[in-house]
Amino acid sequence: MCGIVGYVGEKQALEVVVAGLRRLEYRGYDSAGVAVISEGRLEVRKKAGKLANLETLLGQDPLPQSTTGIGHTRWATHGGPTDHNAHPHVSEDGRVAVIHNGIIENFAALRAELTESGVQLSSETDTEVVAHLLARALPDVAGDLPRAMQAVCHRLEGAFTLVAMDPNDPTLVVGARRNSPLVVGLGEGENFLASDVAAFVEHTRNALELGQDQIVIVRADGVEVTDFSGNAVEAAPFSIDWDASAAEKGGYDLFMLKEIAEQPKAVADALRGRINAEHRIQLDEANLDDAVLRDITKVVVIACGTAAHAGMVAKYAIEHWTRLPVDVELASEFRYRDPIVGPDSLVIAISQSGETMDTLMALRHAKAQGARTLAICNTVGSTIPRESDAVVYTYAGPEIAVASTKAFLTQIVAAYLVGLYLAQARGTMFEDEIRGILADLADMPQKVDLVLDTVEPVRALAQEFANATSVLFLGRHVGYPVALEGALKLKELAYMHAEGFPAGELKHGPIALIEDGVPVIVVVPSPRGRAVLHDKIVSNIQEVRARGAVVIAIAEEGDESIVPFADHIIRVPETPTLMQPLVSTVPLQVFACELATVKGHDVDQPRNLAKSVTVE
Ligand code: F6R
Repeated sequence: MCGIVGYVGEKQALEVVVAGLRRLEYRGYDSAGVAVISEGRLEVRKKAGKLANLETLLGQDPLPQSTTGIGHTRWATHGGPTDHNAHPHVSEDGRVAVIHNGIIENFAALRAELTESGVQLSSETDTEVVAHLLARALPDVAGDLPRAMQAVCHRLEGAFTLVAMDPNDPTLVVGARRNSPLVVGLGEGENFLASDVAAFVEHTRNALELGQDQIVIVRADGVEVTDFSGNAVEAAPFSIDWDASAAEKGGYDLFMLKEIAEQPKAVADALRGRINAEHRIQLDEANLDDAVLRDITKVVVIACGTAAHAGMVAKYAIEHWTRLPVDVELASEFRYRDPIVGPDSLVIAISQSGETMDTLMALRHAKAQGARTLAICNTVGSTIPRESDAVVYTYAGPEIAVASTKAFLTQIVAAYLVGLYLAQARGTMFEDEIRGILADLADMPQKVDLVLDTVEPVRALAQEFANATSVLFLGRHVGYPVALEGALKLKELAYMHAEGFPAGELKHGPIALIEDGVPVIVVVPSPRGRAVLHDKIVSNIQEVRARGAVVIAIAEEGDESIVPFADHIIRVPETPTLMQPLVSTVPLQVFACELATVKGHDVDQPRNLAKSVTVE
């Protein structure tokens, strides 16, 4: 949540910062602001609403030229999305400008202390207190902003990435991080700070990871990293393995449409290099110790939202392949009960961003109990993989649309690879069984491609149901998390009431929701899989149809038995049961995207949401 950019170099800072904010707008879009240093003064412009509003303001009231600047795009926590609450915040004396991502949990006490000592606060944010604290700390450290930042960070509780500037030192930007993301871009005669590498990848692909509780001192000709006490620390360099074009729309109207279309490639990339010539799974970079994996007695998946749905799909497969119990826990609930995990548990944290605060806190809790931890993550160098014992990257490429699509499919693939690796290490499957499943996985990029080729009728259906007040999704077995995912996509994009249910659970209450004309989307299991699942769902379809529902079946090619029972059928290729989520989710993504478009919504940036949720 919130996107942060800082720049020091030779270029016009404003252009670099605004371009960076455009790439980070997915992180929050309630307001945006920039500050530059010119002639020994801070110049700030900020505006409620999307970045476009700030750009209009900058057109009307231009900023002076400057080669040092910072910028922020906000997802509001403390204080509504107003001009006043937009960042940067400036100290009363005009000495320090600061931008922030996270929540300063002791802000009320700090605010009271500042007010008592006569400071007039001009916003309702937690961030503003930092600007005043920095300005007050400067005289005690001979005006040295990095040292003032050290002093202030010691006083803050909670999660924060902070970036600050002081016009008395106009070629310096200082950053600090605890529990929120901040990366450094290393250029030639210029350097960058940002919440995500996307902000500066068009300028440099060389970056530095910052660790927990670190401060970074950025000038055009160099970068220094220290801890909160000023001791120098080594930051890990990494290079960005995608270029700026991967974060462009590439001819599509929407990032979401582009990312849906990229799914065959994303699935192929998630598999690439992970199956060796002997048809064995190799997850070399994962740092998995087979001896440890042989000793574990349970698996716990922690994740949020779509990533949790990927975990629910993986549960069916991993339990089947390894005979280990797999619990899937919403990360936000995990650490606030008393979860039973220990050294014999493998805790798998699934996260596209690698920064989701709920998942990070659950991961830390699991580690504190002695559990073995593994991250399934898309963002190289992010906090969750850095803090896990092992990592399997999904390699989906940058996902910009707020609604997750290609990340979901690749999370399933990565979790399946982990499940098969466990089965391989523990000897719970014959090698030829594993080979068969790997062959099924290898077919999936082509099958997802086939779905995309035949998905057009879904758009027409979405238009037909644009005025529905509620849409229900039903599934069984791995189709159940797919139903949850279809409902989540519809809620977040079309702002419609939508719910996913296990089809068998319907008669225990939710069937009362069915009335004439309610659309019910049913993920139909393969009739070639476990026939009983197919037969049962046909009965469930009849139950809802008898009560007036309009049934849209997502069914396999060749499943003619469904024809008499469905009002509409969307076909997906013949696929083994455990692979079905990789094809049956795609029409649901397209359905939600199209319906939101018909309603005139901003599909890539739905209201109230942000892509990377870095607050609890
Ligand atoms: C929904 C969506 C969210 C995320 C969730 C976890 O489309 O994108 O539900 O899946 O916020 O995010 P990550 O995977 O970054 O931890």
